[in-house]
Amino acid sequence: MISVSNVTMRYGSKILFEDVSTTFTPGQRYGLTGPNGAGKSTFMKILSGELEPQKGEVVRPRKFGVLHQDQFAFDAYRVIDTVIMGNKSLWAALDERERIYAKPEMSNADGMRLGELEGIVGDEDGYAAESDAAVLLAGLDIPESLHNRKMSELQGGQKVRILLAQALFGKPQALLLDEPTNYLDLDSIHWLEDFLLNYDGTLITISHDRHFLNSVTTHTADIDYQTIITYTGGYDEMVMAKTQVRSRLESENAQREKKIAQLNEFIARFAAGTRSSQVTSRRKEVERLQTNDLARSNIQRPYIRFDQERPSGKHAIEFKELRKSYGEQTVIDGFSASITRGERICLMGRNGAGKTTLLRCLLAQHPDRSDDDFTLDAGDVSWGHEAHVGYFPQDVGATIKPGLTVVEWLHQWSPEAHIEDVRGILGQMLFSGDEGAKATDALSGGERARLAFCKLILTKPNILIFDEPTSHLDLEAINALNIALQKYEGTVLLVTHDYDLIDEVATRLWAFHDNGIEVFQGPYSEWQSKQS
Ligand SMILES: Nc1ncnc2c1ncn2[C@@H]1O[C@H](COP(=O)(O)OP(=O)(O)OP(=O)(O)O)[C@@H](O)[C@H]1O
Ligand SMILES: [Mg+2]
Repeated sequence: MISVSNVTMRYGSKILFEDVSTTFTPGQRYGLTGPNGAGKSTFMKILSGELEPQKGEVVRPRKFGVLHQDQFAFDAYRVIDTVIMGNKSLWAALDERERIYAKPEMSNADGMRLGELEGIVGDEDGYAAESDAAVLLAGLDIPESLHNRKMSELQGGQKVRILLAQALFGKPQALLLDEPTNYLDLDSIHWLEDFLLNYDGTLITISHDRHFLNSVTTHTADIDYQTIITYTGGYDEMVMAKTQVRSRLESENAQREKKIAQLNEFIARFAAGTRSSQVTSRRKEVERLQTNDLARSNIQRPYIRFDQERPSGKHAIEFKELRKSYGEQTVIDGFSASITRGERICLMGRNGAGKTTLLRCLLAQHPDRSDDDFTLDAGDVSWGHEAHVGYFPQDVGATIKPGLTVVEWLHQWSPEAHIEDVRGILGQMLFSGDEGAKATDALSGGERARLAFCKLILTKPNILIFDEPTSHLDLEAINALNIALQKYEGTVLLVTHDYDLIDEVATRLWAFHDNGIEVFQGPYSEWQSKQS
């Protein structure tokens, strides 16, 4: 069980939540919901103890596993080590032991320290760590051939499985997952749902994916109105209950205000007269009824609109016989296409099918990106006249340099732009006022994505290339993106697993299969009816 009492968290003038008390019970599966920037990741860090709340306290089980929102954080490590890192004190001891052994000469103090470290390793079951980790990985369908590879060499679905193994390492009593379905294809999400339905500790998962939440969770803890309220049921049930409670509160408030107005009218009329005791009692009544302003919901929709500075030539991109392999594995096997200005192509298919690779093959050959160290094995790419590319990579968070303010980060991409225009764009993307002065380090996952959109709005490219832009985004932002892409007059290449987006945006499809890329000239609905 995890119990939270009177927890408060605010940053500057922004209150995330105030005086929250709640409990999470074993055997139940909780969704933690709220719009981008509501404080979900922050709350999860408070639950895990990574962050101290400004007020209040948390009681947690001794062993719990965590999956962070940043799935690229372990890219530099081997798969098996990443899993073992799930036990922090064990990993620290193993790491220090290795560093002492690597010294050319060992001092007496080093010898003593080694003894202590062996003690920790023994207590934490360290001698069985590699085999325990291997068993977990096998259970999660990660073949042994991958155990010694670097995390950066694996694709999205595999990474999540490995990070889950990390979270599960050491049999935790509670599992805290921050957006586990990001970057997963549909089949992998179904796999994860089944997996979580069989977990019997306390599960708390953050997600913006309502289908996933509805199928996995038994309760929903929603962050809104500066507090956290736990509802019974999945996402849809939460939305229904929340709307009902809200409209009841609003109508009660309206009635009270009407009553107060009547009483005040009486007081005004007779205040100077003889009915002083009645006036006094009515004054008391007014005090009692005084309505608190209802806290406002923090659900807001950004306004996205992509313009182009100048259109590209009629042929936006042409390429012939592209080939790319990683070691033995051929990912792109002689693919050719010609893309006309204004087309919107969706790249769809399973994790690891080669969608990102294809985009990178094209980008690496763009004249403005000659520093790109990605190489293709064979093929010709020719970019159209004045092709000006805006690229939103899969790991967009990493493109936002820390140590700047939001305004500074954005302004650098077009230093000649007026600061009012920069602020205007930020405002429409929900970074108004103080938010513009926020440090880039502090941004939430969704805020990072929103800021990356600001760059595309500011720089006005005529070809937009998106690699899974909806991961991390809340529903309002996904809708805004959908509308913006439909209205954009330039050329779009879009990788996504979001079927609404594919359905409404694509004019052409590239469906990645095991045996190659299927080109379909037409929208998703037609492709679907052709399948059946
Ligand atoms: N150190 C900090 N200083 C100031 N503001 C901060 C700091 N850390 C976080 N914030 C702000 O607190 C808010 C909550 O952040 P958090 O990462 O918890 O959001 P979230 O609900 O997980 O959002 P998302 O859905 O985008 O992941 C954000 O507006 C964020 O910018
Ligand atoms: Mg978050």
